[in-house]
Amino acid sequence: MKNIKAIIFDAYGTLFDVNSAAEKCKDKIGDKWEAFANFWRTTQLEYTWLRSLMKRHKDFWQITEDSLDKSMKAFNIDPKMKKELLNLYKVLSPFKEVPKTLKTLKERNFKLAILSNGTPSLLNELVKSNDLNDLFNDLFSIEEVGIYKPDSKVYDMPIKKYKIEKNEVVFLSANTWDVSGGGNYGFNSIWVNRNNSIFDNLDYKPRNEIKNLSELTKLIQEET
Ligand code: LAC
Repeated sequence: MKNIKAIIFDAYGTLFDVNSAAEKCKDKIGDKWEAFANFWRTTQLEYTWLRSLMKRHKDFWQITEDSLDKSMKAFNIDPKMKKELLNLYKVLSPFKEVPKTLKTLKERNFKLAILSNGTPSLLNELVKSNDLNDLFNDLFSIEEVGIYKPDSKVYDMPIKKYKIEKNEVVFLSANTWDVSGGGNYGFNSIWVNRNNSIFDNLDYKPRNEIKNLSELTKLIQEET
């Protein structure tokens, strides 16, 4: 990993905890809150892939709502909770090491960006509500190219904007399929394996694996 110019982060699950919306309602949802949150997330991702394949694009906010509707039915959750869950999804919490890691990397003059399925307004609200807006050079949204990850048009966005080579990018995601997507494209992809999970068989093994983003600062120091 020499000549790294940009460090690019996936948003949902990598910087921001997608389970935090359901977790904040766990008193009302009960013990099933985590299974419900996982089902919602899986359905949401399936809809991104299916809509891309069907060429029937809807933005990520619409997909988040559509997948929530199905998940609430599947888990028998009071429909009155829909608004609260959606509002909480707009202001998901970052994982606790995120602000400090970003500040340290920013001081080292890397370009820092988010590259995400989220719409521009969702990404803006996420970073603003968590006071992280000054740390990023760009918030790249797939809405600019109209197709979801892992289409290569998505990973092309920072390369075109910064006029850099693919191997000058470190890309981080907690989503194994997104690590493979970015890695197959040509990024140095690092897997943020927060939950001791198993990696995919999709023609790419992560450049590195870390347990959380605080390990990134050390890795970048050693390797660049
Ligand atoms: C994103 C999803 C994949 O932020 O987590 O793009």
